[in-house]
Amino acid sequence: MSKNVLITGGCGFIGSNLCNRIYQSGYNVSAFDNLSLGKKENLTPKVKFIKGDVEKIKDLENLPGKYDYIVHLAGASCTFMFQEDLKAAMSNNILGFINVLDFARKTKVKKVLFASTSSIYGDNPTPFTEDQHVIPPNFYSVAKHSMEHLANVYNREYGTEIIGFRFLSVYGPKEEHKTRYANLVSQFLWNIWLDKIPIVYGDGLQERDLTNVADVCAAVQLAVETPKKFGHTIFNVGTSKNYNLHEILEKINQRLGKNIKHKHIKSPLKWTARHHLADLTKIQKALGYVPKYTLDQGIDEIAKNLEGRPKSSIPNV
Ligand SMILES: NC(=O)c1ccc[n+]([C@@H]2O[C@H](COP(=O)([O-])OP(=O)(O)OC[C@H]3O[C@@H](n4cnc5c(N)ncnc54)[C@H](O)[C@@H]3O)[C@@H](O)[C@H]2O)c1
Repeated sequence: MSKNVLITGGCGFIGSNLCNRIYQSGYNVSAFDNLSLGKKENLTPKVKFIKGDVEKIKDLENLPGKYDYIVHLAGASCTFMFQEDLKAAMSNNILGFINVLDFARKTKVKKVLFASTSSIYGDNPTPFTEDQHVIPPNFYSVAKHSMEHLANVYNREYGTEIIGFRFLSVYGPKEEHKTRYANLVSQFLWNIWLDKIPIVYGDGLQERDLTNVADVCAAVQLAVETPKKFGHTIFNVGTSKNYNLHEILEKINQRLGKNIKHKHIKSPLKWTARHHLADLTKIQKALGYVPKYTLDQGIDEIAKNLEGRPKSSIPNV
C-alpha cells in the first residue's frame, strides 16, 4: 500500500517541488499550507491540497487520514520576514514546529523531517560541518537553531524520529511566488530577463553554495526512505561548490545573451554570510546523497521557464 506523506508548506517553493516529486514516486501526498505565500497552482492536480495553519493545532488535528511521514517546511522562510515582523515569524516557526511534533507523536507518525538552514553557520570556517559550534547570526537562524534544539530534546523525551536539514541557498523552478524573498539566482535571472539592473549588496565577492531544488528534494526523499534510525540528526544539503555574485551574474548574462551591468549598494542587512560551502560527508555516508545539478543546468532550466512569456508575468523585483 502507498505510504501517506504530509508536507507542510506544500504550496511553497521547496514544498511544491517535493510534493510533485514524491507523488511521482508513488506516495499519497497531502500539501498542507495556509497560502500566506505559496500558491496552489504550484501543485500537480493529483497532490491533495489541505488549507491549514501549523500555528493552529486544531487544523492539524482535523486532518483526514493518518500519515507515515511529515515533512515540515511551513513557516517564515527568510531573514527579511523576521525583520518585518519578528514576533509573528518566531511564533510561526517555533509554535508551528511544536504543533507539528505534538501532532506527529500523538498520531504515531514514523518520522518527522524539517527544514533548518545553513545560515546558522554564520561566518564559521568553510566547509561547514554539522559538528561545528555555531552562533546563529540573525533572528531567522536563531529560530532554526531553536528548532534543531527542540527536535533534539523532543526525540529524547518522546522518542520521535526527527531529521533536520541545513539547506544551502536553494534555487530552481516554482519560486516566483517568493518575489523579493526568492534566491539570488532567480532574482538576478528575472532582472536580466527584464533588462533591469541587478542590485548587489556589498562588493559581490560573497560566495554561495547554490543548491538546485531537485537535489534538495532528492535528499529529503532519501531521508524519508532510509530504513536507518537516527533518533534526531541534522544533515547539510548543498553541492560543495560555491560561486561569488559576479560569477553568478556572468553566467546568467551569458545564458540570456545579454550584458547587463549590476549596481553595488550597501547591504540593508546588519549581517550577510561571506562564504558558504557545505561539507557533505555526513549525508553522503548516511544516505548516499550526491548532488546532480550544476549551476549552469539550473540557470538554463529557469531561463527556459521564462521563454515566450509576457514581461508582465515575470516577477519585477
Ligand atoms: N529556499 C531556501 O533557500 C531555503 C534555505 C534553507 C532553509 N529553507 C527553509 O525551507 C522551508 C521552505 O522554504 P521555501 O523556500 O519553500 O519557502 P516558501 O516561503 O516558498 O514556503 C513556505 C510555505 O509555507 C507556507 N506557510 C507559511 N506559514 C505557514 C503556516 N503557519 N501554516 C501553514 N503554511 C504556512 C507558505 O504559504 C509557503 O507556501 C522553510 O522552512 C525555509 O526556512 C529554505
